[in-house]
Amino acid sequence: MKLKLLRGRILTFHHEPRNGDDDAAYTYIEDGALLIRDGIIQQVGTFETVSTMAPTALVTDHRPHLMLAGFIDAHIHFPQVQVIGSWGSQLLNWLNDYTFPQEALYADPDHSKNMASKFFDQLIAHGTTTAAAFCSVHKTSVDAFFKEASTRGMRMLGGKVLMDRNAPEGLRDTPQSGYDDTKALIDTWHGTGRSGYVITPRFAITSSPAQMEMVQALASEYDECHIQTHLSENHDEIAYTAELYPKARDYLDIYHSYGLLSAKTLLGHSIHLKPREIDVLVATGAHPVFCPTSNLFLGSGLFDDAGLRAKGITNGIATDVGAGTSYSMLQTLNEGYKVLQLQGQSLHPLQAFHWATRGNACILGLEDKIGTLDVGTEADVIVLNSKSTGAMALRMDCATSLSEELFILQMMGDDRAITEVYVAGEPRKS
Ligand code: GUN
Ligand code: ZN
Repeated sequence: MKLKLLRGRILTFHHEPRNGDDDAAYTYIEDGALLIRDGIIQQVGTFETVSTMAPTALVTDHRPHLMLAGFIDAHIHFPQVQVIGSWGSQLLNWLNDYTFPQEALYADPDHSKNMASKFFDQLIAHGTTTAAAFCSVHKTSVDAFFKEASTRGMRMLGGKVLMDRNAPEGLRDTPQSGYDDTKALIDTWHGTGRSGYVITPRFAITSSPAQMEMVQALASEYDECHIQTHLSENHDEIAYTAELYPKARDYLDIYHSYGLLSAKTLLGHSIHLKPREIDVLVATGAHPVFCPTSNLFLGSGLFDDAGLRAKGITNGIATDVGAGTSYSMLQTLNEGYKVLQLQGQSLHPLQAFHWATRGNACILGLEDKIGTLDVGTEADVIVLNSKSTGAMALRMDCATSLSEELFILQMMGDDRAITEVYVAGEPRKS
């Protein structure tokens, strides 16, 4: 297959920046080039060096824009594309009033297919090349999700939500049907192309103890799969969970007692944690996922990133659309910055951009495949225009450093800042 060379400014991370001066954490090349063959990055370096190695490669010149690994969204809900921006309530009412009625529509394969196409259009438009997604309770929604991702060649993670109680008719499975459907979906999709299956008990409120036992069985049969769920997002949710599982020491103890916690577990929200729960996160290596726009939108609370990191816990960051209010990881980092500011924590832009790329790849165990522009990784690349709006261009005119430019992108950027998106080396946005 033909060699492709993308020319532009290059930024890629090697480890999480300890602070704004940690130059060893990343490589930045002013006139850089990526050489791509068969969807894999073959070379990265200065344009001069790389173009000499491949004089016949087809060159696309993205100067003066910045090339970065595609964004990774560590928690999003596919069947909530038409829930985003629904007014007025906090978590439990929001689920009952807006979310469950919408998710019920995904029993229809045509609706699922139609919405999957629109969902992936949004991801691409916003520069997200990989996500860990919750589908609906219906198998059809998962098939539509992975089919569409496969058509576009995207590395995607997702799973059917398991929920057998406290949800309306048409949105409940049973412990046995949830188990059977999940098994069938894993067999069809896990490891097919770039798809990865995530075992997805929605949260403790919607799974009976009998279902949790089935989830435990799935987790041990398929220990190569990730697990995703929700944890300690809202005070009413926590109180109701305690009523439903009276023997549990706390919310996290429910998931722990069913053997669901490991470094492959993603725990959306994880806001109101008790010291014992934090100790369990440390012991198991499970990953909290910070969902800033959602946490503000539903009035859920402030995620204590620094407190968890101080214990050695590695957190993801995510949009949580449809409670999250934007598909943009730039806007997610913007709101994340503000949530942390409210707690006296300063998210440096280098740390922010690491988080939305390599950082999220690490919590998914995929850093050898995505999240960087390293040689041998998959060529999911985004091209960022820091002057994509008049206000940004005005501000950029007096920016003097890479960090300043990144911060402008973080605070002011959105889908308009995403000029191009390469998925496995193929341009998908323009
Ligand atoms: N907890 C259980 N389900 C959901 C959901 O769909 N969104 C959010 N934000 N929290 C949840
Ligand atoms: Zn969620």
